[in-house]
Amino acid sequence: MKEVMVRPTHYWSSAGMLLALYVLLQPPELQGLVSSKPNVVIFLADDLGIGDLGCYGNNTVRTPNIDRLAKEGVKLTQHIAAAPVCTPSRAAFLTGRYPIRSGMDESNSYRVLQWLAGSGGLPPNETTFVKILKEQGYTTGLIGKWHLGVNCENRNDHCHHPLQHGFDYFYGMPFSMFGDCQITEPPEQDLPTRYKLWSFTKLIALAVFTLVAARLTHLVPVSWKIIFSIALFGFSFFISWFSSFGFIRFWNCILMKNYEITQQPMKVERAATLMLREAISFIERNKHGPFFLLVSFLHVHTPLVTTENFIGKSSHGLYGDNVEEMDWMVGKILDTLDNGHLTNSTLTYFTSDHGGHLEARKGNAQLGGWNGIYKGGKAMAGWEGGIRVPGLFRWTGMLPEGKIIDEPTSLMDIYPTLVHLAGGTLPQDRVIDGWNLMPLLWGSVQHSEHEFMFHYCGMHLHAVRWHQKDSGNVWKAHYVTPIFKPEGSGGCYETRFCPCSGEGVRHHDPPLLFDLSRDPSEATPLSPDTEPLFHTVLKRIDEAVEEHRRTLGPVPQQLSLYNIVWKPWLQPCCGTFPFCRCDKEKDNM
Ligand SMILES: *[C@@H]1O[C@H](CO)[C@@H](O)[C@H](O)[C@H]1NC(C)=O
Ligand SMILES: *[C@@H]1O[C@H](CO)[C@@H](O)[C@H](O)[C@H]1NC(C)=O
Ligand SMILES: *[C@@H]1O[C@H](CO)[C@@H](O)[C@H](O)[C@H]1NC(C)=O
Repeated sequence: MKEVMVRPTHYWSSAGMLLALYVLLQPPELQGLVSSKPNVVIFLADDLGIGDLGCYGNNTVRTPNIDRLAKEGVKLTQHIAAAPVCTPSRAAFLTGRYPIRSGMDESNSYRVLQWLAGSGGLPPNETTFVKILKEQGYTTGLIGKWHLGVNCENRNDHCHHPLQHGFDYFYGMPFSMFGDCQITEPPEQDLPTRYKLWSFTKLIALAVFTLVAARLTHLVPVSWKIIFSIALFGFSFFISWFSSFGFIRFWNCILMKNYEITQQPMKVERAATLMLREAISFIERNKHGPFFLLVSFLHVHTPLVTTENFIGKSSHGLYGDNVEEMDWMVGKILDTLDNGHLTNSTLTYFTSDHGGHLEARKGNAQLGGWNGIYKGGKAMAGWEGGIRVPGLFRWTGMLPEGKIIDEPTSLMDIYPTLVHLAGGTLPQDRVIDGWNLMPLLWGSVQHSEHEFMFHYCGMHLHAVRWHQKDSGNVWKAHYVTPIFKPEGSGGCYETRFCPCSGEGVRHHDPPLLFDLSRDPSEATPLSPDTEPLFHTVLKRIDEAVEEHRRTLGPVPQQLSLYNIVWKPWLQPCCGTFPFCRCDKEKDNM
């Protein structure tokens, strides 16, 4: 806080002045309170669309509690996720870096971690902002979803676990909600993945068969050890494929408290209640602060498990019910802050990991989110609907109330913002892609620091945004776009997710260019005839891409085939493997 107060006077806007005045006019005890490190509560929704919230223009889904954050704080309208799916977006959020820098994005067409017992995950040498907050004296907690890996080499090394990445406390799902977590739902693992696992199984079985035959007939001198290893590898592909028909629930859908598995498989119907209770209890335990709490909702990802009180209450079916339940949970947590007189000393932030999932449908029922006027959705990296998400900051007494900021900002900005507020320093040995948002939120600067943003789909650069500071224009060039199926439907309904590469995408040369400031829905691409700056803009963007590429280096791929595949020796398991089953939450009603 202190360094914020002594910024050079010419940066001070009226809000800054008022703020300083406010601090100076406080009695000494209060001054101490105000200038100490704020508590931080982050609400991270899963798959929520920007068009699902009242404060972003929805007039039928009721989200009064989230809307309250907008009313009492700052609303960002161009808040951008670094990736359009969970694992890479969350990695970027926690590291402040494009996921391609940590190896946390697609390689081999796996875009998120598929198994809790895979060896991929957030690398131990990445420094999350949480780790820095902890070093600065914060008590840190994660309640809810992780989805950034657990183990590397054995069942108990926990190399990717939240507790290894700066969290003092973890309660929730180390994996993610999946259709398979609910008994009544069909398995969700996408068909191409399943098909590929089966093809690999067959290929390896054939190889093992050939090798055994060659060995027995003394044609080739291969050792049994090698044959056995290959067979074991093939076996894990087989299990991966086999598990996608029902075992997933036991192996992926579990509940953990720190390193301990408390429920396997998880009883999804009880999850919301348990998460809420844990979040409230964390705040109450740590009210003397400073604390950091990340409430990483299982909402509003399918299977949309919703408690009875909310079923049938919204006007948008099961999806709307689930959004309204999440809003209610936000309200309960905000009440806890109010009751503990913590509201003024707590910076509260609400966002979603990426856009709503258009293709999540069952019959006529829409089970995924709504991205408002923006084109596309989850899994699409270039189109705004996949990456433009809500961004709300409230810090009563410190930030302006009811302010709206249209400047481009990123979820990766949370990293430097919080590190700054906590009085820490950014790691100097790596690129951090986010910027400290405080000056923009306070109003002491008018423009965000982001000049270029790179919109990756896995390893593939799909689009680039250029925030041209002198004119205020926001240009976006698309190099690659997914091919919608059926044509004109606005999504990839035949495969559930749009791909990043291969036959399902179209390459554009010259790129499709839009001016988001005039055409936020990306409806009409510009051409040299309609836009005199067409070539100039594209040239500048190309240069920026080249410059950006020079900052990238090779890193181990966390989502490689080797890391993604199910490995029995990494399976978190309570009980005796493979009979993993326990329920320590039973008495915890
Ligand atoms: C509000 O959200 C629902 C649920 O996602 C959606 O179906 C509806 O179109 C949205 N309404 C508006 C006005 O954006
Ligand atoms: C919190 O801040 C608001 C706005 O500045 C102020 O009106 C209120 O009195 C403060 N509450 C406490 C408990 O300090
Ligand atoms: C982490 O380790 C990997 C593998 O050694 C290396 O490529 C990467 O650059 C390291 N990352 C950081 C942030 O130091």
